[in-house]
Amino acid sequence: MAPKKTTGKTNSKPKKKLKQIAIYGKGGIGKSTTTSNLSAALSDLGYKVMQFGCDPKADSTNTLRDGSYIPTILDLLREKGRVEAKDAIYEGYNGIYCVEAGGPSPGVGCAGRGIITAVQLLKQQNIYEELNLDYVIYDVLGDVVCGGFAVPIREGIAQHVFTVSSSDFMAIYAANNLFRGIQKYSNAGGALLGGVIANSVSSGYQKSIIDDFVLQTNTQVLQYVPRSITVTQSELGGKTTIEAAPDSEQAKIYRELAKRVEAHEVSTTPVPLDPLQLRAWANKWSDQILAVERGDVRSAGAQI
Ligand SMILES: Nc1ncnc2c1ncn2[C@@H]1O[C@H](COP(=O)(O)OP(=O)(O)OP(=O)(O)O)[C@@H](O)[C@H]1O
Ligand SMILES: [Mg+2]
Repeated sequence: MAPKKTTGKTNSKPKKKLKQIAIYGKGGIGKSTTTSNLSAALSDLGYKVMQFGCDPKADSTNTLRDGSYIPTILDLLREKGRVEAKDAIYEGYNGIYCVEAGGPSPGVGCAGRGIITAVQLLKQQNIYEELNLDYVIYDVLGDVVCGGFAVPIREGIAQHVFTVSSSDFMAIYAANNLFRGIQKYSNAGGALLGGVIANSVSSGYQKSIIDDFVLQTNTQVLQYVPRSITVTQSELGGKTTIEAAPDSEQAKIYRELAKRVEAHEVSTTPVPLDPLQLRAWANKWSDQILAVERGDVRSAGAQI
C-alpha cells in the first residue's frame, strides 16, 4: 500500500470503548519496534489503531510507513501557527493512523512540551471520537525526565502502561524508575501498570532475571520477545515484521502480544524497589548469574 495522508473522513459508526496504552522503556530498548508491530498486529485483528509517537526524534511510526517520516505536530505548529489535527495524521500500514508529536528545535526548550501540546490538540478537536478508534498507543520515552513525558500516565490519558525491558541492569533501572512515577501518580488517578514486555530475552539467565524483577516489583511479564534477525531485516526494508515477514516466528510472537494486549483488563500499581534494594538485588544476580547460566541452579530468586 502506498502510504498517503488520511482524507480525515469522519464516520457515523456507534461509539466504541477506546483503549489508550502507553509504552515506556529505556532509550534504544525496542519501544518503537515493539509498538509498531503491536499496532500492525492489532490492525490485522480488525481494530482501528492510532500510533502516537511521543519522542522528539519523531521516528516512532517510520516502519508503518515504508521507512518514511511524517511532519510532526510541533513542526506544523511552527510553520503554520495553527494546526488542524487531521493535517498531522498520516496513514500507515493497514490504515493505521500515524502521528508524531515532535519536539522543539534541538537545544531549545522542553521536549516534553511537545507531548502536552500534541495531546491537547487532538483532544480539543475530538479526533479519537471522530475517527472511532479502538486503540491509541503512545510510544513514549525511557525516563520520566520531565512533566511532559509523564503526561500519558499522569492525566488519565492512558489506562494501561507497558514497559519494554531487557534483562540488562540499565533497562531494569529505567523500568524501576517508571514504576516509581506510576506509583506516585496512581493515587491521583494516573495510569497503572499492565506489565513488562521482555524484549531481547532469549536465554535462561535473561528470563530468570526479568522474572525475578517482576516478582520483586509485584508485576508481570506480558510477553517474551526474542532478539531476531527478522526484525533487523524488516527494519532495513522500512517495515514492521508483521508486514515484511507475516509468516515468521517473530510475527507470531508479536501477534501473541497483540492478543494479550487485547485481553488485558486489569492493571495494577507496581511496587518499585528503592535504590538500595535495587542495588542489593543486582548484586545478588551478579553473584549468581554464571551458576544460573551453567544450570547449577534453576533460578536465583533474590531475597532482598
Ligand atoms: N526483538 C528484536 N530483535 C532484533 N532487533 C530488535 C528487537 N527489538 C528492537 N530491535 C532493534 O533495536 C534497535 C532499537 O529499537 P527501537 O528503535 O525500537 O528502540 P526505542 O526504544 O524505540 O529507541 P529510542 O529510545 O531511541 O526511541 C532497532 O534497530 C531495532 O530494530
Ligand atoms: Mg523509539
